[in-house]
Amino acid sequence: MSFEEISERLKRAEKVAVVTGAGVSRESGIPTFRGEEGLWRRHDPMKLASIEAFRDNPGLVWQWYEERRANIRSAKPNRGHEALADLERFCKVSVLTQNIDGLHQRAGSTRVLELHGNITRVKCTACSFKDEAAGRFPELPPRCNCGGILRPDVVWFGEPLSVEIWQSAIQEAYACDVMIIAGTSLVVSPANALPAFARRAGAVLVEVNPEETEMSREMNLSVREVSSVALGRLAELMERLRG
Ligand code: OAD
Repeated sequence: MSFEEISERLKRAEKVAVVTGAGVSRESGIPTFRGEEGLWRRHDPMKLASIEAFRDNPGLVWQWYEERRANIRSAKPNRGHEALADLERFCKVSVLTQNIDGLHQRAGSTRVLELHGNITRVKCTACSFKDEAAGRFPELPPRCNCGGILRPDVVWFGEPLSVEIWQSAIQEAYACDVMIIAGTSLVVSPANALPAFARRAGAVLVEVNPEETEMSREMNLSVREVSSVALGRLAELMERLRG
């Protein structure tokens, strides 16, 4: 599809869905998982981000999460996050994110579906307690008032997504006119199925990623740029088309 055709679709779009991954937070100083500087180069995900790892050694898993929580606390949304929040001036925007850092909300996006949870929330492994817990814990692993061990409210390998959130994400994918897929390698299921749902329902797919991904060929347009630049330009384009 030509840039003009994509612009035409953007001009008429009522609903835009944005699938985001670790790449959109890279420029906020939060590392990605894959690639040369990715976390999974230095750490084994099964030893740090699985329910088995947590059962074996909750203290170790928590130490790793406390480091990431501290980094995320000090991080700020970048131009990419802000541009997605800006898009809400022109059409309905839903952000379907695999990120757990809360930066889309901090940038002002109002409809964010957190497919993999949120690192600043905790939940109890024994009772139904769930809460925001932004600060550092004095002892690891932290405990609930009921005596149970608390865990980060994130989705680990081998765990299902929240059914409610996943169903809402599918609905957004089917309902959008344009889907933007930014900063994700699209290798993790089931989030990587969302572009196919959107495509099936007739949406235009625009990928934003400096690298080619396994699904680049299925996109109508691939913008090979970092997300702060590409999403910033997209917001400017929308301003020109519809402002
Ligand atoms: P990945 O680390 O797999 O992919 C990050 C993508 O961002 C890559 O395709 C990079 O090319 C791209 N990228 C890097 N810098 C960028 C930038 N400045 N702007 C735009 N793109 C950039 O991260 P995810 O796809 O998010 O799950 O990974 C998906 C899931 O795998 C994560 O949610 C996490 C991980 O294991 C769990 O922990 C369950």
